[in-house]
Amino acid sequence: MQIIPSILNANLLNLMPDLKELEKASVEMIHVDIMDGNFVPNISFGPDFVAHIAEETTLKQDIHLMVQNPDWIVDQILKYQPESITIHYEATHDIYRILQKIKDHGVKAGVAINPGTSYEAIEAAIMIADRILVMTVNPGFGRQKFLKEMLHKVRKLDLTRQINQYTYKIEVDGGVNDQTIVKCKQAHTDECVVGSYLFKNGNPLGNIVKLRQLIEE
Ligand code: DX5
Ligand code: ZN
Repeated sequence: MQIIPSILNANLLNLMPDLKELEKASVEMIHVDIMDGNFVPNISFGPDFVAHIAEETTLKQDIHLMVQNPDWIVDQILKYQPESITIHYEATHDIYRILQKIKDHGVKAGVAINPGTSYEAIEAAIMIADRILVMTVNPGFGRQKFLKEMLHKVRKLDLTRQINQYTYKIEVDGGVNDQTIVKCKQAHTDECVVGSYLFKNGNPLGNIVKLRQLIEE
């Protein structure tokens, strides 16, 4: 299981030291939360931020778009060729077309579901998606409590993957810490996004090592 650091709760006034620590930790990707103040009640980064990270670091980016009608911002971000772009099922009536567009540009395409959205709603989208993001908090903020009920979606997605030989990754986002990461692993999650837990004491490298030990036990 991979740990994907979310930089939303890193030290945004002095981000480079944290990013350099993550490079040292050889993380698979970093998770970049883009919020529009409409789909969620918060505003974070924009496409320029994605460009700066690409210029200044070697880190691959897992872009999580919490943006209503994301078509326009997908176009802007595709210019920077991140590793992956994930859009929310609830944010568009056109999910399949946008996922196709992302894939056509050689970028991995993900579909995210809010806690209030059932697994069945994305039955069609999972046929094309490279990554399914199961939100384990209501999107918009770091430091929230993990909603363990959401893990039943992970188990169903894992079963569906086995039956149909799909190849998508199952990612969980929100409230992951040294307690909940073990539950995520038991449910067959492939990737855990970890935000505030990693950056809480300014020691992301040490915290990643600790989490890796827990999931290897
Ligand atoms: C929340 C974001 C998450 C957030 C997770 O809407 O999508 O990626 O950064 O932060 P923690 O790990 O603190 O819940
Ligand atoms: Zn996120």
